[in-house]
Amino acid sequence: RFADQVRIVEVGPRDGLQNEKSSISSDVKIDLVRRLAATGLKTIEAGSFVHPKWTPQMASSDKVLQNILQQPPQSTEPVTYQWLLPNIKGLTNFISTHNQSSTKGTNSYPTPPPSPVHDSGPALNTSSQNPNDMPSATSGAAAMDAKSSVEQPKHEVSIFLAATESFSQKNTNCSIAESLDRFQPLITAARDKGFGVRAYISVALGCPFEGPDVDPHKVAELAASLLEMGADEISVADTTGMGTAPRTRELLRTLTSAGIRNDDLALHFHDTFGQAMVNTLVGLEHGIRTFDSAVGGLGGCPYSPGATGNVATEDLVYSLESLGVNTGIDLSEISKIGDWITSEIGKPNESRAGKATLAK
Ligand code: HMG
Ligand code: MG
Repeated sequence: RFADQVRIVEVGPRDGLQNEKSSISSDVKIDLVRRLAATGLKTIEAGSFVHPKWTPQMASSDKVLQNILQQPPQSTEPVTYQWLLPNIKGLTNFISTHNQSSTKGTNSYPTPPPSPVHDSGPALNTSSQNPNDMPSATSGAAAMDAKSSVEQPKHEVSIFLAATESFSQKNTNCSIAESLDRFQPLITAARDKGFGVRAYISVALGCPFEGPDVDPHKVAELAASLLEMGADEISVADTTGMGTAPRTRELLRTLTSAGIRNDDLALHFHDTFGQAMVNTLVGLEHGIRTFDSAVGGLGGCPYSPGATGNVATEDLVYSLESLGVNTGIDLSEISKIGDWITSEIGKPNESRAGKATLAK
């Protein structure tokens, strides 16, 4: 029997768009985030604060953050926005935009229907007294009261390192050990400011430079270190889409044997070889309850040659719901967004379930 509900982390505005060569206007990026917020998604990775020369498409992420802060998107559920960053410089840029743009007294959440309010799986679990914190709403009248006093959505940061030295150098110009050295002060600083921290481990199931046989024990060791440093959640990423069901199972068993709890894990599948849904099922069977995806199947890392998009959110929603797993996401609405954004940026819509839903 699978989990009753999962949390889907929509990474389309960041992973989905970061690799696009032609410049996408900040208005389109803002529009994408605002539309996604109205679908029932609870977590959206909305941009990144990386070096603009390394990933030019994300240079306007400050505009997206400003927009969210100044005019929080309409949503039926509170949405947490995540911002990818590689180092203290990224955190400093993120915090300075955040502090300059924050406004008080705005309540973006419409009064929700009295019942039932879905709990879409675990949310990032920060223990700090968070100035971002809004009251967590879980049910009925309490939810309505809590939501009516919400002023701002919550913001979190996501950091990333690699399970292989070659990818670490290509993506972040440093070794794995140097990444870890950077992260301890970064995580501490982010948490001190009240921001939750997610950490990605890239190339966990295959590296474009070192091949498919990435050591699962290395992934487990990195996950344990990041959690010990204070990361709230580890997103284990199949950057290249080389992961297969048996190797995904082996990796998850290795993580469990190393004492990593399923509730501290998310899975992030790129679909290069068409294995993302199969691997998702393996994750679900193992007890994972958080999965990353991108609307329209957009996505790719500029430093992972040959890798294609993330698993499409529409496909994930369709498939999970067919298994009786609640995602809280409106399939029809997310399908419209996949169609809109892919045509807006001139790419094919990679979501079969999205296209079929719209054709009905
Ligand atoms: P570097 O060149 O080694 O940086 O790049 P540095 O520390 O030597 O600094 C050089 C200059 O860059 C300095 O400026 C810094 O201030 C500046 P200067 O003094 O010369 O004027 N700088 C920055 N500026 C803006 N924002 C920053 C920043 N950091 C330094 N954050 C660095 C190292 C990590 C910055 C670079 O390699 C980088 O930005 N890499 C990111 C590449 C990227 O965006 N990759 C895609 C995202 S990861 C991904 O997609 C995988 C994921 O989806 C999971 C999966 O699927 O695997 C998450
Ligand atoms: Mg990715």
